[in-house]
Amino acid sequence: MKRNMFLALLVVCLLAGMAAAEEMGKRFLVIGHRGACGYVPEHTLRSYELAIEMGADYVEPDLVSTKDGVLICRHECEIGATTDAAKKFPDRKKKVVIDGVEEEGWFAEDFTLAEIKTLRVKERTDFRDHSKDGLYEIPTFQEMISLVKAKEKEKGRVIGIYPETKHPSYHDAIGLSLEEPLLAVLKQNGYDRADAPVFIQSFEIDNLKELKGKTNIRLIQLFDEYDMKPGCVLAKGGTTTYRNMATPEMLKEIATYAYGIGPWKELILARDKDNKLQPETNLLQDAHAAGLAVHIYTMRNEAKYLAAEYNGDPREEYRKWIALGVDGFFTDFPDTAVQVRLEVSR
Ligand code: G3P
Ligand code: CA
Repeated sequence: MKRNMFLALLVVCLLAGMAAAEEMGKRFLVIGHRGACGYVPEHTLRSYELAIEMGADYVEPDLVSTKDGVLICRHECEIGATTDAAKKFPDRKKKVVIDGVEEEGWFAEDFTLAEIKTLRVKERTDFRDHSKDGLYEIPTFQEMISLVKAKEKEKGRVIGIYPETKHPSYHDAIGLSLEEPLLAVLKQNGYDRADAPVFIQSFEIDNLKELKGKTNIRLIQLFDEYDMKPGCVLAKGGTTTYRNMATPEMLKEIATYAYGIGPWKELILARDKDNKLQPETNLLQDAHAAGLAVHIYTMRNEAKYLAAEYNGDPREEYRKWIALGVDGFFTDFPDTAVQVRLEVSR
C-alpha cells in the first residue's frame, strides 16, 4: 500500500473511532436539520456551515436525484418552492403523483446537474429571513461532504452526516435509484464502516432493508404521522401504517436492520386542541426496549411551534425531551440545542 493511501486510511479510522467515542460521551446528539435552516435557506452550504459553527454534531442533507443521476441536497423532488426554477425554466412545470399525492411544480429529475447549478435558492417559509434569497446554489451531496471534511480539519472535531433518501420508491419508478449513488459517494469519501460518523435515514422500509444488505453504515427508520403509510407500502398497494410499525413487536423487527428510529415528536408527545401536551405514548420506551436509538424531529424555536407548557421558551422543550431520555434532536436551531446541552451537562 502506498504511504499516502495508508495515511489517508489511518485518518479515516481515527476519525471514525473518535466519532464513536464522542457519541458515547454525549447525552444526546444535535442534528442540524437541513443545516441551520432557522437562520439561512435550507440545504445550502452556508446553512450546513452555520450548523457546524453552532456546534451541531451532525448535519442533515435530504437527497433527491437530478436527471443525470447526481444526488443533490433538497427536501423534495419539487424544487420550485425553494428556488427560482419557475422564472428560469417556465416550460418545465408538470404534475406528478409522488407517494399517492399529486404535486405540481418543477422537479429535480427533469433537470441536469448543469441546469440545477444555474438556479438560486430561496427561503421556503414566509416567516423566516429572506435577505439571502438568490445568493446560494443547490449543493450536490459530494459538495456537502467536502464542506464537512474541510470544517472537520478546521475545527479539529468529528462532524457527522445524516443523509436522508427522499422518496426512494418514486426514484426507483423513474429509473433514478438513490441507493447506488448514495453508497458510491459515501464509499468514495471513506464512509463505509458501522462506526463511521454517518446515519442513513428513510421514511421507507424496503430501501433501508436493501441498504442493510449492502452497507455497515447505521440506518434510521423514520416515522411519519401514525395514519400515514411509507412510500414503499403505497407503491405495492399495502396497508401497513406507521402506527402498525410502532408496536413493540415491530420495533424489534426494525431493530434487525436499523440502529434507531426518527419519529415525528408528536408520535411520543401529542398535543390537544389547546396546544397542551398529552401523556407520553409508549413509543420512546418501547423503541429503547428494542435496542433502538430515538432521534426526534423537528425542534423549532418559533413560538407557533411550541406547546403551551413551554411558555414561548424553546429551551423548555429540549429540557422536557432530555428528561424523557431521547437520544437526539433534529433541530432548525442547533445553537439552542447546544446551549441547553451545555446547561444540562454542568
Ligand atoms: O429526517 C428527519 C426529518 O427531517 C424528517 O422530516 O420532512 O424535514 O425531512 P423532513
Ligand atoms: Ca429530513
